[in-house]
Amino acid sequence: MLFRIGQKRFSIKGVAFSLFGATALLLTVGVQESRAQEESDKGAYLTAAGGCYGCHTDVKNDGKPFAGGRPLETPFGIFYTPNITGDPETGIGGWTDEEFLKALKEGIGPSGHPYFPAFPYTSYTKMTDEDALAIKAHLMSLPPVVQENRSHDVSPPFSWRWLQWGWRLLFFDEGPYVPPARASEQVTRGGYLVEALTHCGECHTPRNFLGGSDNSLYLAGAANGAEGELVPNITPDDATGIGDWSEGDIVSFMSDGMMPDFDNVQGSMAEAIDHSLSKLTEEDRAAIAAYLKSIPPIENKVTSSGP
Ligand code: HEC
Ligand code: HEC
Repeated sequence: MLFRIGQKRFSIKGVAFSLFGATALLLTVGVQESRAQEESDKGAYLTAAGGCYGCHTDVKNDGKPFAGGRPLETPFGIFYTPNITGDPETGIGGWTDEEFLKALKEGIGPSGHPYFPAFPYTSYTKMTDEDALAIKAHLMSLPPVVQENRSHDVSPPFSWRWLQWGWRLLFFDEGPYVPPARASEQVTRGGYLVEALTHCGECHTPRNFLGGSDNSLYLAGAANGAEGELVPNITPDDATGIGDWSEGDIVSFMSDGMMPDFDNVQGSMAEAIDHSLSKLTEEDRAAIAAYLKSIPPIENKVTSSGP
């Protein structure tokens, strides 16, 4: 059908079709944009859950986010974290997805060298490839920072990278994440968050003299955690663990660091809450609490002279 407005002739069908076309195009662009936004939000969320910021940022000296240089004191010496921003020279901007996955999930660098377990690839190995790559996409979306890496201050033999090949044989179990038998959906999610991302065990599971995790004391506390801290038992044992904390206590502790006795948490746990756990959704914190309640209680009193 044709009609006139002034000198112009329009076809109603034509107008309708082009309107439809334009709307469809706008919708498609919109959907693509919101999908990209969702992907990038997901990457930011997982990066927070993984606690990458706290270790890879020299917060105390106003360092730039993810540019590294943060000292990590361990019984073996001081490790300085590398730059993981998108700068191609001093950061990881030139890395392929495969190189990133190999570093994060196998603990092996682009030139084939093994990483020290001060980098908790031993936990990240349980992450899905999809989650790991969402983290990479997020890191690459941030401003690249030019900052040279600082070498570690660790004495031999612990500074010998090649010895890590032996260490790996003894102590590294490559992923994937296996949920506990007959776990509910919530506990399965909580276990993934604890084991693959938030890496509670890197601090709460004691280590032997070579720095390997003693899995018979999984999450049962450590006398000499990072920076010489006493790390409490967080298994549901009534006397020596957190058996008397409700799931609600654990959830609110992870959001603001307040313990059931109204004490405020200190040290590296306070950092883990600030930079990571407080940024999780309530649902994910509840999943972590449900998982912690589901693991076997272990009686282990952590004292400064104990295991
Ligand atoms: C507990 C501290 C800690 C946390 C948490 C941590 N890292 Fe690291 N990371 C390190 C240390 C230390 C190294 C250096 C290891 C070495 O030199 O062998 C490292 C190395 C790396 C490397 C290799 C860089 C290079 O130049 O070879 C990448 C990539 C990396 N981390 C990414 C991440 C990501 C992504 C996260 C969060 C999911 C993360 N890290 C969380 C301590 C940490
Ligand atoms: C970087 C090391 C580190 C990581 C990672 C870590 N913690 Fe902690 N956590 C500590 C230290 C150290 C303390 C003791 C803090 C203090 O004495 O104030 C602590 C204390 C706690 C407490 C208080 C227990 C009590 O009896 O006082 C709970 C609960 C807890 N952590 C749960 C977790 C959970 C759950 C995760 C993982 C989602 C986690 N932590 C990850 C180091 C860590």
